Amino acid sequence: MRAIVMREFGDPDVLRLEDAPEPTPRAGHALVDVRLAGVNYADVHVRGDTYLAPVELPYIPGNEVVGTLDGGRRVVGLTRGGGYAERALLHRRVTWDVPDTVGDEQAVALALQGNSAWHLLFTALRLSEGESVVVPAAAGGVGTLAVQLAARAGAKVIGLAGSEAKRRLALELGAHAVVDSTAEDLTERILDAAGGPVDTALEMTGGATFARTLAAVAPRGRLAVYGFAGGELANVSTRELMERSLTVSGFWLPQLYADRTALQTSMRALFGAVADGSLRTLTGTTYALGEAARAHRDLAARTPTGKLALDVTR
Ligand SMILES: NC(=O)c1ccc[n+]([C@@H]2O[C@H](COP(=O)([O-])OP(=O)(O)OC[C@H]3O[C@@H](n4cnc5c(N)ncnc54)[C@H](OP(=O)(O)O)[C@@H]3O)[C@@H](O)[C@H]2O)c1
Repeated sequence: MRAIVMREFGDPDVLRLEDAPEPTPRAGHALVDVRLAGVNYADVHVRGDTYLAPVELPYIPGNEVVGTLDGGRRVVGLTRGGGYAERALLHRRVTWDVPDTVGDEQAVALALQGNSAWHLLFTALRLSEGESVVVPAAAGGVGTLAVQLAARAGAKVIGLAGSEAKRRLALELGAHAVVDSTAEDLTERILDAAGGPVDTALEMTGGATFARTLAAVAPRGRLAVYGFAGGELANVSTRELMERSLTVSGFWLPQLYADRTALQTSMRALFGAVADGSLRTLTGTTYALGEAARAHRDLAARTPTGKLALDVTR
């Protein structure tokens, strides 16, 4: 089968199209004919060998797919690698039938980024109506969904984004205010936009951005950390946590893969919201399978908005 195989870690050129062996069937898993493979920022970390869970080479990247199984059932599912390929093995626990009301391009935005957005807001932050929340990369994959889900839940959303066009998009999706994510005075800008310290915040850049975001959180507030796109992990001062009675939690979606109820709850809510029109998935560029390197280059350059995917049939 055609697949993107990584034989070394490094820049996007390590993502090469090859003829690879078919996946070996395993108990509890389903073999899916892939149509779309989602591209996620996690794949950039895997390629650079900075992902939370190290991988062994040679490796087929890709942690979510949409496709068909058993001769026609349309499914979306999560994987631990193997997604950038014509066929992928999905654990049945993290594979869901896609309702007729939801298209393939919409479904591929929901498995990894949709579930992450939902559980970040409602499991990690326990966001309530009327609270304020900072959403970083508000025009990105997780961010576009988090902005809408938080706004629908009655929260006041402060969206961070790196360009004027992205900030406009975040406002269109329901953000109450937007802030330039690259600003040195990020803390002051968040405080200005929110009219004071915020109740809750999401953080995925790391380094100085983590510290600047945490500084804008009110005493007794909550922050959930789920990435370090800037490449630098942040350290938390326990003194700062005590002084302001802050809660900082971590989040990594694969920790929920064994929790069928948690993911079923979020998938049902996400499918329902897409079907009734209250949640918009934003389809970014769809690349041919052999263009995986270009997709990674674009993602690392911070230019795309919405969901990036590889069309495995092209
Ligand atoms: N822990 C988990 O389970 C989990 C699950 C899903 C995603 N994530 C994390 O969530 C984040 C978003 O993932 P995604 O797949 O939805 O990607 P994305 O938001 O579509 O794209 C990444 C965005 O991150 C922002 N960014 C900030 N600093 C950056 C830097 N130094 N280099 C590149 N981009 C930077 C950029 O937005 P601006 O230019 O607008 O700032 C960029 O567009 C990533 O950090 C990812 O690792 C974690």
